[in-house]
Amino acid sequence: METDDGYKRKAEIALLVIVVLASLAVVALLVALSYYCYIRNKVAHRRKNQKSVDHNEKSEFANLQIVAEKGLQVFTFKQLHSATGGFSKSNVIGHGGFGYVYRGVINDGRKVAIKFMDQAGKQGEEEFKVEVELLSQLRSPYLLALLGYCSDSNHKLLVYDFMANGGLQEHLYPVSNSNVMPMKLDWETRLRIALEAAKGLEYLHEDVSPPVIHRDFKSSNILLDKKFHAKVSDFGLAKIGSDKAGGHVSTRVLGTQGYVAPEYALTGHLTTKSDVYSYGVVLLELLTGRVPVDMKRPPGEGVLVSWALPLLTDREKVVTIMDPALEGQYSMKEVVQVAAIAAMCVQPEADYRPLMADVVQSLVPLVKTHRSTSKVGSCSSQHANRLSPAQDSVGPSV
Ligand SMILES: Nc1ncnc2c1ncn2[C@@H]1O[C@H](COP(=O)(O)OP(=O)(O)OP(=O)(O)O)[C@@H](O)[C@H]1O
Ligand SMILES: [Mg+2]
Repeated sequence: METDDGYKRKAEIALLVIVVLASLAVVALLVALSYYCYIRNKVAHRRKNQKSVDHNEKSEFANLQIVAEKGLQVFTFKQLHSATGGFSKSNVIGHGGFGYVYRGVINDGRKVAIKFMDQAGKQGEEEFKVEVELLSQLRSPYLLALLGYCSDSNHKLLVYDFMANGGLQEHLYPVSNSNVMPMKLDWETRLRIALEAAKGLEYLHEDVSPPVIHRDFKSSNILLDKKFHAKVSDFGLAKIGSDKAGGHVSTRVLGTQGYVAPEYALTGHLTTKSDVYSYGVVLLELLTGRVPVDMKRPPGEGVLVSWALPLLTDREKVVTIMDPALEGQYSMKEVVQVAAIAAMCVQPEADYRPLMADVVQSLVPLVKTHRSTSKVGSCSSQHANRLSPAQDSVGPSV
């Protein structure tokens, strides 16, 4: 039998064990907590460092020397001077917001187009930088390639692949200062241009992360090579978009009259859907052969979108907006489909506009049909087949 003393002793030992174990637990907890804090600090520190690396990388992209290592050629002013015959007038192929555009031949014999910045000041410099930074990172057969640039204290020049057939708008309606012999585009070529330009925007919106918003998509920024294949050009106004679903970036309203989406013009909220609107305007130009804004037209017809939108979804009326230069040489079934895509793209409500991927999906079958029946690159209308509206059976596919 144990004495009271024995029980007391045991109880004391049990208490001691409990106290020791509890202290050990507290110490272990403290160790775990400090380890957790240590790890958290380390991760936060690493993230911070990573951010500043990213930031430095971004600002280093602004440093054109770094970009040069990314496959762009750096030209001296002298090289470009001799490539263009001393920037002779006879080599001027256009003039835009950036300045004159010259035809030239560089050392390796390649034909190039050279843009010579004539607008001094911050906006011009900014556009030059964005164009070089972005185009050094983007690669798509549907975007015009930048070959190199010249940037010294007095001159800023951009050197591109030469596109023998110039801007799309030159082939749709008369353009002052155009040096290209305009060739009226047949329906099949228009369809293919619509598809290739859509693929250019699809690449910017879907394949690049975060997405790139072109912000100045228009027919003069769709350039055509000698076989009338299209490439999207001019990224000087481009913006990195929001990578959140439905997100926007807020920015100053820039772009070209007649192409700017209404919500962007009103609020400055820019999304990829702003480009989709501009794309819709280009589709309307391809259908009608009309300028986006022409106040010399009769009342109600001056703004292309307002005039055409109510007619686009009426298959009896859509024929009345078609470009007379097409001389009726098109498939009504295809016209109805393209008109429906255009109508969706220029919806005033951005959410109702399709994604560029949807537009591409809808145009692919139309271009495929032609590929199987005619030769690519032809500008004649001999392959176009005309169906009467009554023969149409397929409705809009977007
Ligand atoms: N790479 C190129 N190859 C052939 N012609 C070109 C090339 N780039 C531009 N051009 C010609 O120069 C013209 C002017 O182009 P530019 O981009 O400077 O002005 P824009 O597109 O009319 O207006 P913005 O300055 O608002 O873009 C084009 O319409 C086209 O005819
Ligand atoms: Mg342009």
